[in-house]
Amino acid sequence: MSTPAPLKPVTVPDLAQARREGRRLAMLTAYDAGFARVFDANGADIILVGDSLGMVVQGHDSTLPVTVDDIAYHVRAVAKGLRRALLLADLPFQADATPERALEASTRLLQAGAGMVKLEGAGPHKLAAIRFLAAREIPVSAHLGLTPQSVLRFGGYRVQGREAAAAAQLRADALAVAEAGASLLVLECVPSALAADITQASPIPTIGIGAGPHCDGQVLVLHDVLGLDTGHRRPKFVKDFLAEGGSVAGAVRAYVEAVRDGSFPGAEHAYD
Ligand code: KIV
Repeated sequence: MSTPAPLKPVTVPDLAQARREGRRLAMLTAYDAGFARVFDANGADIILVGDSLGMVVQGHDSTLPVTVDDIAYHVRAVAKGLRRALLLADLPFQADATPERALEASTRLLQAGAGMVKLEGAGPHKLAAIRFLAAREIPVSAHLGLTPQSVLRFGGYRVQGREAAAAAQLRADALAVAEAGASLLVLECVPSALAADITQASPIPTIGIGAGPHCDGQVLVLHDVLGLDTGHRRPKFVKDFLAEGGSVAGAVRAYVEAVRDGSFPGAEHAYD
C-alpha cells in the first residue's frame, strides 16, 4: 500500500490569504471521524464541530442544551479524521459568559484537537471574551446575524438585519469583532446585500450561511448538504448536493466546487 502524499494543513493565516487571493473557502460541519475524513479528503477547507449537534445529532429543539463536554467529545472524534482541513469548534451556550470561562472551554477544545473556536454575538462581554482569547493565542471566529444561542430573545429562527437600524448594528458589530481580534466571521441568515456590504467593509474573511453569494466562503450543516431529514424545518438556504453528487464524496466535491466557482448559493438560497 502506498503512503498518501503529505498535505499542507489549512492554517489560520491561510484564511486571510485565501481572501486576498479571491479563493472562496468551503466549510462544512461534521461530528465524527468518518464524515470528517470524507469531507477533508474531498476538499473542505474548514470543518466545524458546531453546537448544531444539539439539534441534528442529539435531537433537541435548540442548541442550548449542548455542553463543552459534548463539543470536546466530537472534536476528539473529528480530529482523528482530518489531514488538511482546519478544525473549528463552537463554544456552546454560556461557555463564553465570562472571559475566564471562555478561556477554560477554549483551552479544552484546542487540547482536544481544534485549531480555532467560534462564539456567537458581539455584546460587551462577547467582545471582552474575543479580546481575552486572542491575547492568549487562541484563534477566534465570530458568528453574527441569526445566532442560534439567542433563539429565546429572537423568539424563533428568523432572518436578521432586515430593518435599517438592525443592519447598521450588524455592520458595526462585524467591525467590532474584528477589532477585538477575531480572525473569521460567520454570517448567518442576513440579507445578501447586507452580507455583501459587511464582507467589503470587514478586515477579516466572512463565511456565509443563508447570507447570499458575496461572502468569502460558505458553510452548510452535514445533514443539509446531504439532504437528510433532521426533523426540523428545511431553511431555504440549504441545498441537497447528494442528489447531484451521487455519493457522499461526490456531494462534498460538488459542494466545494460550487462554493469555489460561486454557483452556490444561488438567488433561490438567498434572502432580500
Ligand atoms: O453550529 C453550527 O453548525 C453553526 C453553523 C450553522 C454555522 O454554527
